[in-house]
Amino acid sequence: MECGRPLRQDRIVGGSDAPVAKWPWHVSVNSFGHQICGGSLISESWVVSAAHCFVLPENFSLIPPEEYTVAVGVHSQLSLMLNPEASDGMHQIVNVSDILLHENYSGVEHGNDIALLHLAEPVNFTEYVRPICLPRANHSFPHGASCWATGWGDVQESVPQSFLSGLILQQLEQKIIGPKECQCLFNSNGPFNVTVKLLPTMLCAGYKEGKSDTCQGDSGGPLVCEEQGQWFLAGITSFGHGCARRNRPGVFANVAAFEDWIRDRVEGAVFPEQPQPIPAPLVEDSDNCTIALPECGIAPRPGDWPWKAVIITPASTPCHGVLVAEKWVLAPGSCFLGLKDISSWHVMLPPKAQRIPILSVQLNVNFTQDYEYDLALLELAVPVSFTEDTRAVCLPRLHHYFLPSSQCRLIQWGRGEPPLASPSLLEAEMTSNWWCYCVRGSKVEVVPDPLENPSILCAEYHEEEKNGCWMGSRWGLLCEESGSWFLAGISKPPEDCLRPRVFSPLQLGSYWIKSTAHTSYLEDQLNWHFKVVRTFVFCPSKTTLGACGIQSYKDSNPWPWVAEVHSARDEACMATLVSPGWVLTDTHCVARHGSIASRLQVKLGRTRFGTPGQVSRPVSSIHYTMGSPLVLLELETRVDMSASALPICLNSGPISEDVPCWVLSWKDSVNRVPMVVQVSILTPEECPYLNDPTLPLGTFCVAYGGKRLDKYEVDSGSSLMCQRGPDSWMLIGISIRGSQELFAPVKTQHFWISQTVCDAPFV
Ligand code: ARG
Repeated sequence: MECGRPLRQDRIVGGSDAPVAKWPWHVSVNSFGHQICGGSLISESWVVSAAHCFVLPENFSLIPPEEYTVAVGVHSQLSLMLNPEASDGMHQIVNVSDILLHENYSGVEHGNDIALLHLAEPVNFTEYVRPICLPRANHSFPHGASCWATGWGDVQESVPQSFLSGLILQQLEQKIIGPKECQCLFNSNGPFNVTVKLLPTMLCAGYKEGKSDTCQGDSGGPLVCEEQGQWFLAGITSFGHGCARRNRPGVFANVAAFEDWIRDRVEGAVFPEQPQPIPAPLVEDSDNCTIALPECGIAPRPGDWPWKAVIITPASTPCHGVLVAEKWVLAPGSCFLGLKDISSWHVMLPPKAQRIPILSVQLNVNFTQDYEYDLALLELAVPVSFTEDTRAVCLPRLHHYFLPSSQCRLIQWGRGEPPLASPSLLEAEMTSNWWCYCVRGSKVEVVPDPLENPSILCAEYHEEEKNGCWMGSRWGLLCEESGSWFLAGISKPPEDCLRPRVFSPLQLGSYWIKSTAHTSYLEDQLNWHFKVVRTFVFCPSKTTLGACGIQSYKDSNPWPWVAEVHSARDEACMATLVSPGWVLTDTHCVARHGSIASRLQVKLGRTRFGTPGQVSRPVSSIHYTMGSPLVLLELETRVDMSASALPICLNSGPISEDVPCWVLSWKDSVNRVPMVVQVSILTPEECPYLNDPTLPLGTFCVAYGGKRLDKYEVDSGSSLMCQRGPDSWMLIGISIRGSQELFAPVKTQHFWISQTVCDAPFV
């Protein structure tokens, strides 16, 4: 019997719709009227397909054959649905009488993803229905050989083929990738230790650049290679990592490895000898492959953004967006509301503001003007070709996790002018989810784990760039990973200049972008160097003022409420930030500067940006209280809350015995490195010093454990703080005259403090 020779021999030029009768062995495996998998006809009564199409995914138990039908000779799924009787004589639908799963199938990742379907009655071979040849065990499909995969599966990752297209069988040229090279590609840039281990019963095909691949719904279908005019079934579509991703080719069942298994079960299948000459591999299949690098997000230098797109519409200011594909620009949807007559619009792209007319505008499906899905895609009339100066930005996939302290830049987004002359270098740094949610999130929130999608992203930036607050404009957040820039988020319109800045994560919109602009550059996460530490965590409750007493980066400025009080002579003592406009210290600290407000400067926030990130504020007034050495200093202007300047919470009630407490001071007053020493709070019976009647009411006395350091210096303004919750701190007292043991309480001055500082964060 003849196999592997279609009667019609059309030539295919580009395009991906298969010509009628080009792949007469391709069958549609249907379940309850839906095409669920593909298969290949190998004789009048047998189809070979993938095992995973016929089992429950939970326990690999076989689904009964009555639940399946096989349709042969199908070209358009739509005409199969509209004309099940096959009055045109093209297709035939038959029941499945038996399914033979491979005995050793236990999940696609373990190979043996093969099954045989016995048809309830034989099909008639016609122009549209013919069997494929099966390879013998020694048949070789060399690295680099060109083969074809066919199927009705998704046209992009998670994007099914549209009904409008008629659901025509799709064909795709795929190159065989040898086992060494394939393994090497799969080993590149994996998340954690999740790697695919390729087995001899598997075969890879596709391209390391990605872009074309089989996808969901193609499983079970054929990968066929032509040799001397005869087509052989080299593979059965089995699995992949996503679809068409870089360095992630498709994995197929290696049919040659199953010669005996098929022969033992099927009568009438044909296994011709491999035609001579046996094709030689074009290139060596090697263990040290060159992986494909991202094509998106590469900037000649930061600030020279090759994806910067400015959309010019008549009678309004330009709108800023980004190039996401050769033919597509992403911009806020709100830019285009109420505007008509697209024909007069155009986009300006680098270099030298090349102008391209716009063909269509697609608003995000969920667009409601609430800025959550404020996105639009603009289709360019002519595609641009990518160069050094013109190329797309990378877009994150759904579960992208931008690591805390990733280096980011702010770009102009939408309408409105930034106040700075050259905004292109606004630097920012991604904060942890913990910091973002606890400082800027709403009231009670669970901080998402790195493996979950966040609903907000935060970035910190230097205070000097505060003038870049861009009240009138919005921002895009670009973040770099291994040399490629991703559009990580877009800001909502700002009502304030609070830091860290909050952004809507773009990953939530990337599915819509990919399904509208198929060729846009979604990239896998490129930096996986993190450990998942907490699974989930609640933020400490916020006061009406907002967050207080929490820390963001434990390694740089762990105590964001530590302030320095400086005089002209630059002797400093310590103070504690208790609100954005106030610090608390003791009389001693101001007395040594002559107690004159105009001589005092408060410095805040040694950040991970270093002292340049420090902010400085003149003191506008000094406030004293009776019966306590506590002093409040009012700052001339408030500081923005940030990872390096955040108030501590203030204690107003009893302290339970088991909470850990620390004295916060400086290791030495020259370099002013903050340090903490754990202490225990003593009762009046335990602490003889407390008998001194001149001490303020409620003075705390502390004892140091074994850890007390000799060099340890308690300076004036040093503070005693206790833990409020697992990650939250409150201020208990301020050192009296630089004493190491005695601290003036804040709780007895509750009234005075909250009268003076209206937003004092008492808890
Ligand atoms: N397992 C998929 C299916 O059931 C086939 C996936 C093929 N994926 C790929 N990227 N090659 O349809």
